Amino acid sequence: METFAHRHLLDIEGLTRSEVERILDTAKAFFEVSRRPVRKVPTLRGKTVINLFYESSTRTRTSFELAGKRLSADVINMNISASSVSKGETLQDTCRTLAAMHPDVVVIRHWAAGAPNYVASRIDCSVINAGDGMHAHPTQALLDAFTIRRHRGTLENLVVTICGDVAHSRVARSNANLLKLFGCEVRVVGPRTLLPAAVDSLGVRVYDRLDEALEGADVVMVLRIQSERLEGALLPSLREYARTFGIGAKAMALAKPDAIVMHPGPMNRGVEIESEVADSDRSVVLSQVESGVAVRMALLYLLAGEATESPAIGEVG
Ligand code: CP
Repeated sequence: METFAHRHLLDIEGLTRSEVERILDTAKAFFEVSRRPVRKVPTLRGKTVINLFYESSTRTRTSFELAGKRLSADVINMNISASSVSKGETLQDTCRTLAAMHPDVVVIRHWAAGAPNYVASRIDCSVINAGDGMHAHPTQALLDAFTIRRHRGTLENLVVTICGDVAHSRVARSNANLLKLFGCEVRVVGPRTLLPAAVDSLGVRVYDRLDEALEGADVVMVLRIQSERLEGALLPSLREYARTFGIGAKAMALAKPDAIVMHPGPMNRGVEIESEVADSDRSVVLSQVESGVAVRMALLYLLAGEATESPAIGEVG
C-alpha cells in the first residue's frame, strides 16, 4: 500500500482531498473493530503513544486512548496536573523529556494556538494536534466528515450550517477547511460578536439570521458556547442567545427534512441546543463519538504503522 505522505497531523490545511478520503476509508476499515466482542487488533504492537492534554477533554482523550489500545499500542496518559508541568517545566523540556523515552506518537491538546507545531519541530516522533487554542481541531473535523459520510452517504456538495460561537471555535475552522475540499456550501451563523473578525477569509457564507442560514441545510452543526474563552460581555445573556440562536425543533424544521444535527460536545443543553433536538432521531452526536475512535485508529495507523519521511500536515514554513 502507498505510504501516507505526512509525518504529523497538525491541521486540515495541507491535506489534499484524496488524503482526507484515504483517512476516512482507513477509518471505515477500523470502524467494525469497536463493535466486535474482542475489540483489539495487533496492528501497532510494540508502538508507544503518549497523550499529553494541557486542557480538559472527555471525548478526544478517551478515544485516542481507546484507539491506541485497540490497535495494541502501549498508551501513556500524562496527568498534567500531577506532572512536572506543575513545577514550572516548559513545554519544550516536557516534550524533549518524553521524546527521550522514544514514543512513536505524541497526541497533544494545548490552550496555545501553534503548540503542536512547536512540539513537532522539536521532537523526533509523530505529533497529532488534539486541539490547540482557537486554532484547529483536525481530528474533530475528520470524525465529523466520517459521520456525515456515514449518515448522508456522501460529503460532496452538501449545505452545512455551522451555528454559534464561531469566533472561539477550532472545530468550525477545521470543519470549514475540510468541507470546502468536497465542494460543500459552508454557512456560519451567530451573533456578530461571536463571529471572527476575518470571517470572510474562511471562505464561508455569513448569516445574521438563523432562519435564513438553516433553509435547505443538509447538516446543522451546533457549536458549544465556550464560556471559558469568552472575554468581556460578548453576549447579553445566555437566555437571549438561546432564544435567538438556540437549535430547537422549530429551527430544525427549516433545514431539509432529512437533515442531521451534530455537536462536537460537550453540549450546553438549553443554550445552543435543546434536548428535544439533541436526543432526537436527527441527532448524530453519539455517532460522532463512535466515529472518533475509528478515525483516531486510522490516524495512529497511518502515522505510526508505516514509515513516514515527508513534511507535516499543516506544518508552518
Ligand atoms: N469534541 C471535543 O473535543 O470534546 P472533548 O473536549 O471532550 O475532547
